[in-house]
Amino acid sequence: MISIFIVEDEAIVALDLKSNLERIGYSVTGIVPSGEEALEKIKDINPDLIIMDIRLQGSLDGIDTAAILNEKYDIPFIFLSAYSDEGIIERAKHVEPFGYIIKPFGANNLRTAIEMAMYRAKMKTELSKLEQQLRQSEKMKAVGNLAGGIAHDFNNILTVILGYSTLIEDKIAQGENILSEVEGIRNAALKANLLTKHLLAFSRKQVLNPEVVEMNIIVENVSRMINRLLPENISLNVITDPEYQAVFIDQAQIEQVVLNLVLNAKDAMPDGGYMVISSQTCRLDNNMLVTTGSVPKGDYVTISVKDNGIGIPSENIEHIFDPFFTTKSVQKGTGLGLASVYGIIKQSGGYIDVKSEPGKGSKFTIYLETTEEKTSKLKKPEEQMEKLKGDETVLVVEDEDEVRRMVVTMLSSNGYQTIEASNPGEALLISENTNMLFDLLITDVFMPLMNGIQLSERLHTMGIDFKTIYISGYESKLVKKKGVDINGFEFLPKPFKSIDLLSMIRRTLDGMLD
Ligand SMILES: Nc1ncnc2c1ncn2[C@@H]1O[C@H](COP(=O)(O)OP(=O)(O)OP(=O)(O)O)[C@@H](O)[C@H]1O
Ligand SMILES: [Mg+2]
Repeated sequence: MISIFIVEDEAIVALDLKSNLERIGYSVTGIVPSGEEALEKIKDINPDLIIMDIRLQGSLDGIDTAAILNEKYDIPFIFLSAYSDEGIIERAKHVEPFGYIIKPFGANNLRTAIEMAMYRAKMKTELSKLEQQLRQSEKMKAVGNLAGGIAHDFNNILTVILGYSTLIEDKIAQGENILSEVEGIRNAALKANLLTKHLLAFSRKQVLNPEVVEMNIIVENVSRMINRLLPENISLNVITDPEYQAVFIDQAQIEQVVLNLVLNAKDAMPDGGYMVISSQTCRLDNNMLVTTGSVPKGDYVTISVKDNGIGIPSENIEHIFDPFFTTKSVQKGTGLGLASVYGIIKQSGGYIDVKSEPGKGSKFTIYLETTEEKTSKLKKPEEQMEKLKGDETVLVVEDEDEVRRMVVTMLSSNGYQTIEASNPGEALLISENTNMLFDLLITDVFMPLMNGIQLSERLHTMGIDFKTIYISGYESKLVKKKGVDINGFEFLPKPFKSIDLLSMIRRTLDGMLD
């Protein structure tokens, strides 16, 4: 039976209403004269429907009470009022009553109003259930798109790696040079590395690591990386500014930005075309309006990617930076590329401009601030590398052979003496048996039997004076989650570039740690 709660300040009207309701088959679960009391009692009573007068005792009238009820509960209500003037009806409309009965009323009006209200309430609940299901299924679709996109991208990368590996096998058998194939594999691995960064940027887990870098270097790096990814029918032209242009930015992230723009340009030219990547300095004497905001006047470095592909319809431009907005097939696009571009550029204090014409092509331009001061801080790459050399002895402990060999190669080609151990036990044996002294220990964190920190402690108790750098395939937070606290130690997550490792070594050995 439908239970009804009555809010009515005139006792006689309330009792009359109660008997009418009971006569036509409803149950009345309570009668109160004021909004305040209604609000107090309603949560215990939880009726199916409320019938409420508009004029009530106390400071809240029926419309005020309904507004508060709507915020907290989902109980349908009908107004019962002697008023029918426009002002009141206008106010009442805003709290969305399920019915409005004018006094005096008959049992028939009452029953019709109640049945209609209950039907509407049922439909409303069903609709909101459907909406929730729809939201859930859209979320699942988005996750599915994401997973599909990643699987697809990784598959492409693996295809490239496997392809070059086969080529290498053939060439080695014939005693030929394999340098370009190895480069191809490295580029594919870099792309995979960018893909994981892309995911991290999207999940906002990425830490910015800004430094003063030169835009031309970024453009050159990316062009080298993509040259092999582009099909033959797309020609690439790279134009760098002869002037030195320094920006304070996270290099890996900006490379990821440019790579995303390039991949989009490639997709926009399925039948081939012409792509231009360029970097330039530019001075704005006035503020300039671009797609993502107003660029304040000043000195900027721009980097742009232009294609003569399919172009973007003007109604899509406002959506292209939305996560998951894509016009590509499920297999091809996840719609995260430009969302992460936007995130990175915004985080770096820059701006993006998009010019596009359907059928003619598109040009994406990134504006990043530059200053004299930044440019003067810029060191030539050769100078930087020279400073990173050393002649100290380094003990490298890492159980993955490839990683250990790579670290040893990075070190020995920069002047360092190296000792290798493939596990902590071996490291301890070497130092015990040979009394070998070393200045630095580079060790993996997680290894069988003993972790890197325990190893470092054991070696110290043997009276050797050395510094330690920890490396791990896990980010520092994850390392902590897995039970090892590397807080306060020198730590480098894998994969790393030789310049990262070498700078950390110099900072550690020269005691220039911040
Ligand atoms: N250079 C371009 N030419 C034409 N359309 C473009 C270009 N760049 C972006 N777009 C449009 O913007 C949409 C969103 O781009 P975005 O990079 O965010 O996602 P995606 O390329 O579809 O997928 P993902 O980058 O995740 O693989 C694209 O689907 C495409 O419609
Ligand atoms: Mg894209």
